[in-house]
Amino acid sequence: MLRLDRLTRTFREGDATRTVLDGVTARLDPGTFAALYGRSGSGKSTLLNLIAGLDTPTAGHVWLGDIDLTTLSERDRTLVRRNRMGFVFQSFNLIPTLTVRENVRLPLDLARQTDEADVRADALLDAVGLSGRGDAFPDRLSGGEQQRVAVARALANRPELVLADEPTGNLDEVNADRVLDLLAGLAKDEGRTLLVVTHDPGIARRADTVLHLVDGRLVDG
Ligand SMILES: Nc1ncnc2c1ncn2[C@@H]1O[C@H](COP(=O)(O)OP(=O)(O)O)[C@@H](O)[C@H]1O
Ligand SMILES: [Mg+2]
Repeated sequence: MLRLDRLTRTFREGDATRTVLDGVTARLDPGTFAALYGRSGSGKSTLLNLIAGLDTPTAGHVWLGDIDLTTLSERDRTLVRRNRMGFVFQSFNLIPTLTVRENVRLPLDLARQTDEADVRADALLDAVGLSGRGDAFPDRLSGGEQQRVAVARALANRPELVLADEPTGNLDEVNADRVLDLLAGLAKDEGRTLLVVTHDPGIARRADTVLHLVDGRLVDG
């Protein structure tokens, strides 16, 4: 379960202070597909970075289960990120010098869960419709295929929280739909919490719940 408790993030701009997130409170239960929705500049990426433990809030807390990320050391936050979170980025971020299979198993290698890592990677490649492509390098794949690899990779270490920042932003409509279906379906099947950042109302409508940010505050609807 992910719980955001009065999260505030300000940035200094010369002598002024700019409030980018203002008291964001929310709770996402396991198995929930949530959209973090808002216009450009509303604070979505800032909030995602706080949830991922890549940035620390000016005030407030991020709870993942019974762990308060905001009180952990940098090192412990890295471990939580590695062991309990999965990520999908807009630009896929596959490693070009690794094969597709090696990219998918990377989170397992980083978490030192190498037993059966190839089996898990191939099962996930199967699930995203890319069985048989494990030995290829990412540059042989289309954009939609690369993002499906990234979806497989994000789920490799069975993370309780999957974070995706505009995951379909670089895809055409058909591939965007397919990637989102896979991401939402796999997350749900495995009981993961999925948080998808988007400015696309069509994606927000498909989510179980919408965190709608306007100028750094959550609003209803
Ligand atoms: N490190 C920073 N320093 C100052 N302002 C920032 C910083 N990061 C983000 N901002 C500002 O916070 C606002 C929200 O940014 P962001 O979270 O990236 O929005 P979104 O992802 O919704 O487009 C923007 O106005 C941006 O300029
Ligand atoms: Mg952003």
